[in-house]
Amino acid sequence: MGKISAAITAVGGYVPDYVLTNKELETMVETNDEWITSRTGIKERRILKEEGSGTSYIAIKAGEEIIKKSGIDPKEIDLVIVSTITPDVLVASTSAYVATEIGAVNAFGYDINAACSGFLFGLSTGAAFIESGKYKKILIIGADKMSSIIDYTDRNTCIIFGDGGGGVLLEPNTEGLGLVDEYLRSDGVGRDFLKIEAGGSMMPTTHETLDANKQYVYQDGKAVFKYAVSNMADSAKLIMDRNNLTAEDVEWLVPHQANKRIIDATRRRMELDDEKVMINIHKFGNTTNGTIPLLLWDYEKKLNKGDNIVIAAFGGGFTWGAQFLKWAY
Ligand code: UT7
Repeated sequence: MGKISAAITAVGGYVPDYVLTNKELETMVETNDEWITSRTGIKERRILKEEGSGTSYIAIKAGEEIIKKSGIDPKEIDLVIVSTITPDVLVASTSAYVATEIGAVNAFGYDINAACSGFLFGLSTGAAFIESGKYKKILIIGADKMSSIIDYTDRNTCIIFGDGGGGVLLEPNTEGLGLVDEYLRSDGVGRDFLKIEAGGSMMPTTHETLDANKQYVYQDGKAVFKYAVSNMADSAKLIMDRNNLTAEDVEWLVPHQANKRIIDATRRRMELDDEKVMINIHKFGNTTNGTIPLLLWDYEKKLNKGDNIVIAAFGGGFTWGAQFLKWAY
């Protein structure tokens, strides 16, 4: 038997029905459709309005779709990982709840927090378990209800983010398909450029922190942009070079959807044609952990067995990286 690799064998996704357009944002903050479109590429994003629903609502829908499409018995699932920065509640794992709700009663579950690179880190973790032979069916879900941590009076952030997520089923493969290589990094130098200041252990929530709106995302967009452009492009290029991939060899770039300009810079560095770049930022915005699986979900029908795919992301922390995988179906 050949070496075991971890292959994606099914994809699921979910975005809420409510569409928050640039036009509607114009009524909420001092901004306009032209500025948002030209600076970010975003036209609209989805917002989860269901009362009392958190990120698990999105993750469960994605998980259910994966189970339905793959035809597996959820009792066979060994592990459920949810990558998220917006867990349903603090302390209790969102993954544990998602696993139970989708019928994965024999699985264990835990969350990964690596901001916008969370799905890549989740995929890496799941793949290692599969490659070791220890587990055979693993769900990796990336989902966020960003609207729960965004200040809709702050035009620096509220125009960017949206709610949504998706996931994949990972299974062993002996044909050389699945995750081939990865380059994953982090650097705590980024901690102050993109964060929620209050509500963690350093600054627990108080009346004062609430009055100062410190329960919401703060981003120094310009600084993050600079790091994101160079690191995302460099990682994608490194993974190509290390695997002797030319632009012709790569069928798809799956880039984190933070800003169309960052995506374009990565594409240029890889010398790829536009049509090889998965993109849905115009309709979903930045769903943080949700962007990569939502792209795979959106483009699933266009993928072919053996396609060479490069995933790349950059996020808060900072965290970033790129992965090379061969599509398995
Ligand atoms: O996914 C996690 C990682 N995050 C990222 O990768 C995000 C990286 N950063 C970005 O994508 C961009 O920095 C932003 C989209 C957040 C901002 O775009 P920018 O081109 O860096 O704009 P800026 O912050 O430099 O602002 C330029 C101008 C400013 O006005 P002045 O000072 O030039 O007069 C801002 O006040 O645009 C103004 N501005 C806006 N105008 C209309 C800032 N936000 C808005 C807005 N609408 N929403």
